[in-house]
Amino acid sequence: MSAAPTTTPPSGTGVFSKTRARIAARTLRTDRWWLPPLLTAIGLAAFVGYATIRSFVRTAYWVPQYHYLTPFYSPCLSDSCAPGSSHFGTPFGELPMWIPLGFVVLPFLLGFRLTCYYYRKAYYRSVWFSPPACAVAEPHTRYTGESRLPLIIQNSHRYFFYVAVVVSVINTYDAIYAFHGDTGGFGFGLGNIVLTVNVILLWAYTLSCHSCRHIAGGRLKHFSAHPVRYWFWTQVSKLNTRHMALAWTTLGTLALTDFYVMLVASQTISDLRFVN
Ligand code: FES
Repeated sequence: MSAAPTTTPPSGTGVFSKTRARIAARTLRTDRWWLPPLLTAIGLAAFVGYATIRSFVRTAYWVPQYHYLTPFYSPCLSDSCAPGSSHFGTPFGELPMWIPLGFVVLPFLLGFRLTCYYYRKAYYRSVWFSPPACAVAEPHTRYTGESRLPLIIQNSHRYFFYVAVVVSVINTYDAIYAFHGDTGGFGFGLGNIVLTVNVILLWAYTLSCHSCRHIAGGRLKHFSAHPVRYWFWTQVSKLNTRHMALAWTTLGTLALTDFYVMLVASQTISDLRFVN
């Protein structure tokens, strides 16, 4: 892709500051630097579109005979939830249609992903263009980093992490509760594998979080005096090297898990049963 010439602003910060070379072209790169941010934007938009639609439709999210509940509706805490899908009671009454049934955790899960260090890198480049790629000038004339609103909110990531841990516990409970047979008692089907794999990967993504790594081993002067925290920090550090891969994998498994539950709940397909 050829570099598009632009008019350089008279002054500003970053690449537009007075001390930087005045180059009319936005970039001198001739490779396809725009491809990774484009693919990232498409991937994120696809997930956000799918998750938004599924969160509002209120259909095919619960399979009563096998106790399969999609993670997009967990925990379901209102009288509007399908009978049996409220594993933690119904402290909220009927909800109007414009409120998703998973409204209690969805804002926190969204906040957890939006403030994630990896996703910041992804959408700063692909959506915010700040900058879109290495050696490609950003369209913004000023750069204030994450020191002012709205981006200063990014510093709340560790608090979203705490909530994400609670949500992972709830999803784990859902996955265990789903080992239920058509005629009662224990049951095991393909849906259990889908739910279990999803929850394992969610734990891997959550524990690989940079904030988790800091909570585990940060602010320690001597690892030798804290062997348990050191061990935990070592394990989290190994996971942390795969944080980007886990971020994308869990977007995929979340959507796939929901999709599978939707197909079974709507009786489009039958769950492949191994036991009961
Ligand atoms: Fe990605 Fe915390 S840094 S979830």
